[in-house]
Amino acid sequence: MFRHATIEKNSILLTVLVLIVVSIGGIVEISPLFYLESTIEKVKGVRPYSPLELAGRNVYIREGCYTCHSQMIRSLRDEVERYGHYSLAAESMYDHPFQWGSKRTGPDLARVGGRYSDAWHVQHMINPRSVVPESIMPGYPFLATTALNFDRIADDLKANRAVGVPYDDTMIEVAVSDVRTQVDPDADDLDAFMERYPGAQVRDFDGNPQMITELDALIAYLQVLGTMVDFSAYEAQENLR
Ligand code: HEC
Repeated sequence: MFRHATIEKNSILLTVLVLIVVSIGGIVEISPLFYLESTIEKVKGVRPYSPLELAGRNVYIREGCYTCHSQMIRSLRDEVERYGHYSLAAESMYDHPFQWGSKRTGPDLARVGGRYSDAWHVQHMINPRSVVPESIMPGYPFLATTALNFDRIADDLKANRAVGVPYDDTMIEVAVSDVRTQVDPDADDLDAFMERYPGAQVRDFDGNPQMITELDALIAYLQVLGTMVDFSAYEAQENLR
């Protein structure tokens, strides 16, 4: 009784004790999430990025595309109707760092894969106003003429493996040749490549088979975004439509 009065009369002490009590609840609730396997539910179809897609993702990060584009569709009706199924945690489980973004000067890109043709992306990246007259997006014409530097792409795979992406030894060993395979539908090791990265799209992405450019990598990345999970199986349960 006496001690309680001391606490009530001392606001600093009261604040400290309240913080301690409240944080116990927070710790009990939040800390298991870091250790439970079930925090990120595995979803069929989600696979690590191929080396070419990963290189495209590096271009995306280098150019700061995330400063204008988010990659996270919220489960709100307007977003789902505009962009498609809301993003699942598993869809960015191999993104280090994730590209959810916090600003939408341009549209969300989480499901832009397959929405436009490669040729559209080429035009749009060289000069956005050539396809969207009112666009305020900057052009990136140099990507189409800059050869992709992928000598050290295996190191990117290794770095991703260090933080939990399941790249195996073969994937790392053949990473450089896998970049070439993905832009060449006639490549000898295509079958092995497809086994490593199921569902990967294989073609020359920028319309210039003479050179593997940064634009090849960026378009390969954009075209895979949001396409790994087959949502037709989930659509039946979808009550937002
Ligand atoms: C200054 C802000 C800004 C930056 C930086 C930016 N964008 Fe955009 N982006 C936009 C705006 C605005 C639009 C909508 C108009 C249009 O389609 O051009 C857009 C549209 C797009 C679209 C079409 C999306 C859709 O669903 O119609 C793609 C793809 C895209 N951007 C990719 C990129 C990539 C890749 C980069 C980095 C190399 C990038 N953007 C950088 C503002 C930006």
